Amino acid sequence: MHAHIVYCHPSEDSLTAQVRDAFLEGLSAAGHSSTISDLYKDGFSTDMAEQEYLRDAYYALEPPLEEDVIREQASIQATDALVFIYPVFWTEAPAKLKGWFDRVWRYGFAYGQDAAIEAGLVPMKKLDLALFVAIAGHSAEALEEQGRLEAMRNVMLGDRIYDRAAKKELILLGGTERSDPDLRKRMTSQHLKTAYDLGVSLAKPLEGAE
Ligand SMILES: Cc1cc2nc3c(=O)[nH]c(=O)nc-3n(C[C@H](O)[C@H](O)[C@H](O)COP(=O)(O)O)c2cc1C
Repeated sequence: MHAHIVYCHPSEDSLTAQVRDAFLEGLSAAGHSSTISDLYKDGFSTDMAEQEYLRDAYYALEPPLEEDVIREQASIQATDALVFIYPVFWTEAPAKLKGWFDRVWRYGFAYGQDAAIEAGLVPMKKLDLALFVAIAGHSAEALEEQGRLEAMRNVMLGDRIYDRAAKKELILLGGTERSDPDLRKRMTSQHLKTAYDLGVSLAKPLEGAE
């Protein structure tokens, strides 16, 4: 299986970077191939320009998409699994990843497929798997009690993926606040193992990995 990873964290000095590496190790141990978009490192521009907004808001296929968006969409068309690895910032993904959706999930690709086909364009393929691996400061239990885990699942799986993947899952790796170093240390080894196992078992993400 091939996995394309959309990775989003501003610092290599992070647990999220370690989770990415453990996931990649798991993938390669199981013989899966992978590619990665590192949104901060690549300097991916996540502000929607006015002309981009107008194109999508008016359901138009012109002007053509920008080169950086075309590259991201090509990576999606070439993958079986699309995997997002990011830290939770204010109960969401970092703004850079939200902006990635604004610019990559475009009219004629992620929606408006019929018009795209009519115009001879190829819309987004149906993915085998969409997997979100979100690293959070709070525990998964606390986020669940507050209704925030459900909110994240609703936005990411319900809205952004919707029916664009045959299988979709959000794995929350929580309890990693730096204010509690002992807990963070314990959770780190647990989460790195989970990330590795997720890489290995790509086609069937773990149940109850939180
Ligand atoms: C700006 C900012 C906002 C954050 N918001 C949340 C949040 O809403 N919920 C949460 O559980 N953790 C939150 N955190 C904690 C992050 O998820 C934190 O990055 C996490 O512990 C992952 O560790 P890492 O940054 O070392 O990868 C936030 C951190 C920052 C810097």
